[in-house]
Amino acid sequence: MVSREELQRAAELLRSGELVAFPTETVYGLGANALDEQAVERIYTAKGRPPTSPLIVHVDGVEMARRLVTEWPETADALAARFWPGPLTLVLKKSPQVPDRVTAALPTVALRMPSHPVALALIHEAGIPIAAPSANRFTELSPTTAEHVRAGLSGAAAMILDGGPAEVGIESTVLSLAGGRPVLLRPGMISQTEIEAVIGPILTSVETGGAHPSPGMHERHYRPRTPLLIGAPPASGKGAHLWIRQELPAQESLAMPDDPATYAARLYDVLHRLDRAGLDFISVEMPPDTPAWAGIRDRLQRAAEKE
Ligand code: TXA
Ligand code: MG
Repeated sequence: MVSREELQRAAELLRSGELVAFPTETVYGLGANALDEQAVERIYTAKGRPPTSPLIVHVDGVEMARRLVTEWPETADALAARFWPGPLTLVLKKSPQVPDRVTAALPTVALRMPSHPVALALIHEAGIPIAAPSANRFTELSPTTAEHVRAGLSGAAAMILDGGPAEVGIESTVLSLAGGRPVLLRPGMISQTEIEAVIGPILTSVETGGAHPSPGMHERHYRPRTPLLIGAPPASGKGAHLWIRQELPAQESLAMPDDPATYAARLYDVLHRLDRAGLDFISVEMPPDTPAWAGIRDRLQRAAEKE
């Protein structure tokens, strides 16, 4: 996987302002020193990402996280104790030390301690927080293997660390603790139910009526080039159908796992592969409307062709 020497070289590149692509348990990230405004600027250029989309800052523990915020509420402590390291991002009031470029000039910063051993070792070795979006071009599918990164963003990173396929498979859950009631800004594999078991009732961004928009949650996001359709495959054209409960006739019929964790781990790799197959469409049976599937449903809806 990743040698000690590679890790040291990657850490050195990050400290000197270069970009390094690295594995996390969710998706691969394109990392830069979060405290170096110019290094962070390079991420936006490489991804073609609008400057209004703030980045997640990756830390190696609560201590590093606390240095980047002005307030560390009890809810953050409880959630970090339960879910860190892991796929939960917490949005908190930022300290002046965090450059505006990282947060798209918001007064808040998104923080996450990843559980992938290579990610943790890299942050620790570099000794700095690492700002990293998913290592794909803006609006395209997120990478869950080093191969996906090479295919989509080749040349943008000074180095790509290969830590194997991402185990979680979709982007982290994003929760804001910066206002009054906590707000779920982006669903993920840590579900609303699991969060509420630790800190009590939270709001979803739908319930706040858009009062807490998650910047960067553009509708057109996480998208393959091949049109993705929710529901049954159309009568004509060459396509693939991803199903859980009901198999339907299609050129390529793919039985997907019926448990959310395995489904999420496989989803982007399946979409990356089908996207290279020259199909007219990819149709997908929508998984059940339950909290455990919410992150997957969200990504499928964003990947889908809008009428
Ligand atoms: O799993 C993940 O979160 C991956 C890996 C690399 O850690 N990263 C990721 O980054 O998905 P990205 O840039 O693709 O998505 C970051 C999302 C943004 O879309 C935005 O909604 C939210 O995090 N975000 C970041 N900073 C925020 C802030 N200050 N306030 C509200 N939302 C924020
Ligand atoms: Mg992304």
